[in-house]
Amino acid sequence: MRLLVTGGAGFIGSNYVRRRLATHPADTVVVLDKLTYAGRRENLEDLPEQRLEFAEGDISDRDAVASAIEGCDAVVNFAAESHVDRSIASPGEFITTDVFGAFVLLEAARDTGIRHLQVSTDEVYGSIENGSFTEVSPLEPSSPYSASKAGGDLIVQAFQRTYGADALICRSSNNYGAFQHPEKLIPLCVLNALAGDPLPVYGDGKQVRNWLYVEDNCAAIDVVLERGEAGEVYNVGGPDELANIDVVRMILELTGRDESLIEHVTDRPGHDRRYSLAWTKLEALGWKPQVGFGEGLRRTVEWYRDNASWWEPIRSGEYREYYERQYGRALG
Ligand code: NAD
Ligand code: TYD
Repeated sequence: MRLLVTGGAGFIGSNYVRRRLATHPADTVVVLDKLTYAGRRENLEDLPEQRLEFAEGDISDRDAVASAIEGCDAVVNFAAESHVDRSIASPGEFITTDVFGAFVLLEAARDTGIRHLQVSTDEVYGSIENGSFTEVSPLEPSSPYSASKAGGDLIVQAFQRTYGADALICRSSNNYGAFQHPEKLIPLCVLNALAGDPLPVYGDGKQVRNWLYVEDNCAAIDVVLERGEAGEVYNVGGPDELANIDVVRMILELTGRDESLIEHVTDRPGHDRRYSLAWTKLEALGWKPQVGFGEGLRRTVEWYRDNASWWEPIRSGEYREYYERQYGRALG
């Protein structure tokens, strides 16, 4: 297979490309990525050049998409603006990439008659107090990020129903693991703990997330790409639900720091209290998560400890200004 992976230089996308090339030795992957602050060519640099083509470009640019998709057998769309806090500060790019960009890609996939797998999120369902969201739960997004992802999902479903496009959706819960940008909770806290900086916890820290190790999500995406049905949605949930404050405490323990580093800061506006996914539909296709949170977090902390050359340039670049704007204090 020749696979177009958009957003393949980001966190989940680069993990996916690495896994795909390892598990499908006859495949070629074409990555189309705009290389925003979140995308890095270095994330793919250890991969075999003969089987990986890289195109720098925007999924909302029809010409860039037309040239990247040529000769491909399927598209997996990871490309997105992905951070809730940035969407609150500046929502415009989220609409352009996550809604319009998804539409441009879908149109190209429909016209070439190939499968389009949309990588989406549990955040489109909004917050749930008790129980778990299924694939037919209503979409009630809270943030500009989740609303733009919901917009992308609805266009995917419309293209399948209206034009018979071979399009389908994966909605996963919070991912964590190697190569995640330090704007997100887990890498932010790991790096701050390693540096002895405060760990900012929004509000009371009792918000619950359903954590999924990134490699389990990448395996799920392949199952859906290969065995999923057009027009269907597949939830990809993690094995463990934890309150943020407990995640932060586990990070402190793994990095040998004490709780004096915890700093409760102003809560995020519109903050979803709890995410929880039911993923029995995907289990019926033969997938289940393999890595529990304790083990996944241990591997993740170890990866960040061993890969300072990966994160040091991020912590010294645009991220410093972002951090100051977001947290009202300089990074130590
Ligand atoms: P990320 O921010 O790490 O990476 C996004 C990638 O997309 C980057 O490489 C960036 O350069 C690229 N990109 C952004 N705009 C683009 C554009 N207009 N054209 C081409 N490339 C563009 O994000 P991630 O965490 O790897 O998430 C990947 C996908 O998975 C996203 O669609 C996100 O909504 C979804 N998702 C993420 C999580 C999570 O926990 N991280 C959970 C569920 C779903
Ligand atoms: P995040 O990693 O941004 O993912 P998402 O918002 O997509 O779930 O945040 C995970 C949880 O951690 C969320 O409830 C917000 C919270 N959080 C903090 O408490 N402090 C922080 O500095 C960040 C970035 C997140």
